[in-house]
Amino acid sequence: MNQQEWEQHYLDKTQDELQPPDTLLTENQKLLTGGTALDIAMGSGRNALFLAECGYRVTGIDRAESAVQLAHTTAQKRSLEINAVTADMLSFDLGIEQFDLVANFYYLERELIPCIKESLKPKGLVFFETFTSLGISHDDPRYRKFLIDPNELITLFSDFFIMYYFERVKGSKAVASMIAKKV
Ligand SMILES: C[S@@+](CC[C@H](N)C(=O)[O-])C[C@H]1O[C@@H](n2cnc3c(N)ncnc32)[C@H](O)[C@@H]1O
Repeated sequence: MNQQEWEQHYLDKTQDELQPPDTLLTENQKLLTGGTALDIAMGSGRNALFLAECGYRVTGIDRAESAVQLAHTTAQKRSLEINAVTADMLSFDLGIEQFDLVANFYYLERELIPCIKESLKPKGLVFFETFTSLGISHDDPRYRKFLIDPNELITLFSDFFIMYYFERVKGSKAVASMIAKKV
């Protein structure tokens, strides 16, 4: 979807329709020991809010103003605090050794990966889940660049300790999930 479509997507949503946090986070809650967290392209904040509930000081970024607004009002309603920022990930400075955890769910921008690595503190964790190219039958390059190839994610993070990696294909959707630690 383009930016305008994402804006409309979140304008059409209410707080009650928020998706639950991703199971990669909820099923690995024992790893969520608090500190600083960044949620890349957070959407309306399902994961950012969960991380805040787990005790993280969370910065969540999305380019869609309507998404950030929804995250902000939901946080207020749940008495949670998140730093919800409207910005383009490609021009946002992630900083150096700022975060104990970076969450990247269903958003793929390969050029951000070195910045994600740099922004993590030593021993910091990255939780990454996104669609893989196995899920599409057509080869449209406009879509392909947003899809990770099989095994590509672990290759991109080969200098990290891979704590968990799984790829699955279910119907027309294929997903890669990874938890990796900066060494
Ligand atoms: C599929 S949604 C994923 C949202 C969230 N990570 C989740 O898993 O629920 C993709 C999000 O990426 C955001 N997005 C797309 N391009 C972006 C960019 N360049 N900078 C920041 N956000 C962007 C969209 O606005 C949208 O909210």
